[in-house]
Amino acid sequence: MKTRIGIDSLAVAVPRRYLDITDLARARGVDPAKYTQGLGAREMAVADPGEDTVSLAATAARRAIDAAGLDKSELGLIVVGTETGVDHSKPVASFVHGLLDLPRAMRVYDTQHACYGGTAGLMTAVEWIASGAADGRSALVICSDIARYGIDTAGEPTQGAGAIAMIVAQNPALLELDIGISGTSSTHVHDFWRPLGHREAQVDGHYSVQCYLDAVADAYAGWKTAATERDVSAALARICYHVPFCKMAKKAHLHLGFDEASFETQVAPTLGLCARIGNVYTGSLYLGLAGLLDAQATDLARRRIGLFSYGSGCTSEFFSGTVANAAAERIAAARIADVLADRERIGVEEYERIMAMTAPADEPPQPGRFRFTGVEAHRRQYLRA
Ligand code: COA
Repeated sequence: MKTRIGIDSLAVAVPRRYLDITDLARARGVDPAKYTQGLGAREMAVADPGEDTVSLAATAARRAIDAAGLDKSELGLIVVGTETGVDHSKPVASFVHGLLDLPRAMRVYDTQHACYGGTAGLMTAVEWIASGAADGRSALVICSDIARYGIDTAGEPTQGAGAIAMIVAQNPALLELDIGISGTSSTHVHDFWRPLGHREAQVDGHYSVQCYLDAVADAYAGWKTAATERDVSAALARICYHVPFCKMAKKAHLHLGFDEASFETQVAPTLGLCARIGNVYTGSLYLGLAGLLDAQATDLARRRIGLFSYGSGCTSEFFSGTVANAAAERIAAARIADVLADRERIGVEEYERIMAMTAPADEPPQPGRFRFTGVEAHRRQYLRA
């Protein structure tokens, strides 16, 4: 019998504060419609220094493990996809491994290629299980990032922060992936990068949009060919795209030859969470998936959906999977609406104050969360609540 492998559990962690995007537009003297209609944004997550990549990753991971009711001893691999790690050598995965008291007998590492890093982790986990090397164990794959372009830049309204954690396992409760059916496209381009030592990304914004569009056309064509060769239907109920800003998903969909009506049905339901959090780099595609399943998992049971992952630089992959019967129940366990409701709206002045901070304020973690508290003897310290 065919082995079913895919995403068994998925949970989200976001900073406790957010900015309404129209407040930002007014403060910058920009017509709010440019940000809301032109970019498709509504709200933007604002991470303070205590909510770093590690603390968001650990918080999301704990939620994903709890949602699955997983015994930690069943894990054999943890991969964190990130492009905003906290150390040149020690991976975010290592901190998470310690904070969650995970088993010693595990592979623990980060993967990096801009926003594709999480997908690299997901593919590694799926293929590790499919190969038999996992020997019945599951993987924890986390995407965690803080997207920063800086005050008063063109990229400013497309910032955000958050982590998405996924348990990858056999007989998944959320999404069974079509292993080996994918299309990839990679070229060496300078559309977005972050030189060592820089907090903010360098980005050639309009060029990055073009690089993304070239990549999605190529990767989608590759996926369609692979699907046809294996007699898998190329009809997709929904498509989740990488979402650096919501309008990008629309541009991608139209670029593939679909029309506006198809966008409303196939793509718009994937953008609800993304519009309220902003760009989370590696996690953006999976934030789209989380929002989609949270809204429509019952209707989508046993239906195939497409996923497109893009990492500037660039590499990309179009792949697919079938929503599981148990998806609605499992995604409900991640309590995503509560995660969003548990946030505080701040004004532009407070956002700018937080952006200028270089060390965490002395405040305790909120219940159920981890928090970075500072550096002692060159070692990063965390608290859990
Ligand atoms: N009302 C409604 N829409 C408006 C508007 C208004 N008053 N003013 C502008 N717009 C629209 C524009 O027409 C444009 O839409 P279109 O692309 O469909 O034509 C959109 O708003 C953005 O305007 P633009 O002038 O292109 O914005 P910008 O030059 O300030 O920057 C990005 C846009 C995306 C390039 C910038 O935010 C960025 O660099 N982001 C980070 C990089 C990124 O996310 N790249 C994606 C690939 S990974």
